[in-house]
Amino acid sequence: MATVAIVGAGHVGVVYAAGLAELGHTVRVVDIDAGRVARLRRGDVWFHEPGLGELLARGVDRARITFTTDYREALLGARFAFICVPTPSTADGALDDRMIRAALEAIRANLDGVTPIVVNKSTVPIGSGDLAREMLREAAIHVVSNPEFLAEGRALEDFFHPSRIVIGASDRAAADEVAALYAGVDAPILFMDNASAEFTKLAANSFLALKVSFANALARLSEAVGADVDAVAQAISLDPRIGPGHLRAGLGFGGSCLPKDVAAMAHVARTYDANPELFAAVQRINVEQRRRVVSHLTDRLGSLDGRRVALLGLAFKAGTDDVRDSPGLALALELLERRADLAVYDPLVRMDVTSNGFRARAVASALAAARGADALVLATDWPEFAHLDLVNLRRAMSGAVLVDGRGLVSPVDATRAGFDYFGFGRGGRPRD
Ligand code: UDX
Repeated sequence: MATVAIVGAGHVGVVYAAGLAELGHTVRVVDIDAGRVARLRRGDVWFHEPGLGELLARGVDRARITFTTDYREALLGARFAFICVPTPSTADGALDDRMIRAALEAIRANLDGVTPIVVNKSTVPIGSGDLAREMLREAAIHVVSNPEFLAEGRALEDFFHPSRIVIGASDRAAADEVAALYAGVDAPILFMDNASAEFTKLAANSFLALKVSFANALARLSEAVGADVDAVAQAISLDPRIGPGHLRAGLGFGGSCLPKDVAAMAHVARTYDANPELFAAVQRINVEQRRRVVSHLTDRLGSLDGRRVALLGLAFKAGTDDVRDSPGLALALELLERRADLAVYDPLVRMDVTSNGFRARAVASALAAARGADALVLATDWPEFAHLDLVNLRRAMSGAVLVDGRGLVSPVDATRAGFDYFGFGRGGRPRD
């Protein structure tokens, strides 16, 4: 069993700490944020990830996980240094690698005789393996690119049962050592060079984003030709060459990965003038979805100034309390910009939504949001929104507009309950 230093106590770092400890390794998590380290020491995981708190506590109880702000302490005797720091988007869509550089710099300054293999988990600009190798050259440290593919809300499932493990390295022995860390995880291991591993991450998330935008493009056309996009998506997804997943039409993709990674892919494509329009279209279609909701609402209600809108869902998807790049949150801000009187409800997210001096009312239930509303918008695919009591909601509202931004409600049921229903790609014949 190995000793692993993990740099960065964010979503990825904490999941990897818990997972690697469960596999039997000793893990030392280092973060520059003392508050975050103190919380983790108390067993307080501040974001929602099913099972993570329990697994982390288990690792801590078995003395396999510690948290520190001191790089030297984390690296002492460590065979591996995992880099799990954020790489946000810059204005032109490129990935900002400043935190990676800072982490590498901190590793270099705190080596104290150890030569860990540096394992890069962060989504990085292509060529970061070379950068890391260059920065750590004097120390003769191997750099391995080992991207993570954890989806929020099912991150532990993805850690223990990944569809594949991708290991990019120029040194085969270092690659094998990293592969051995995952002994006990049943998944194909793919060995490649660093750039290919780094690019795989962008390719995977861009393709997922492409599928979502493709579904949304189909939705728009389905409305025009009178087809039902859900039926079409289901039918095509049974072809193994197309495959299931990420074909649900709706308000679009959000979160910490897909928007950022497709922007990074678009940036790379622009840099090399290699089909940038493909990725630009994926981005454009995604943003159009929320615009279409706003134009549907103005079409039905006229000016939104002072109109009461109930928005159900702020999280970027069900099963998480994350609002990073959330289409629902972006829609909420846009509605506030237009001076709508907004009430929001999300089963997990409690936050103040303010824009332009206007503040949304945060309420504790769908019914409370609906009271007196002119329009109701479903923005996140929370399962409970698929089982709303439509008749009661409609009675509580003063208007009848329902925008089903996630294809959760039967158009027939909604119409029966008295709603004026709109769902992406569901403009064709009503279904049961
Ligand atoms: C994603 C990848 O799935 C994961 O492998 C990667 O490591 C990180 O990025 P995540 O950000 O947790 O994970 O979200 P994901 O489940 O992929 O959903 C992304 C967005 O697409 C969400 O906003 C979701 O609502 C939306 N989506 C997803 C759709 O609109 N339609 C779909 O059919 C699927």
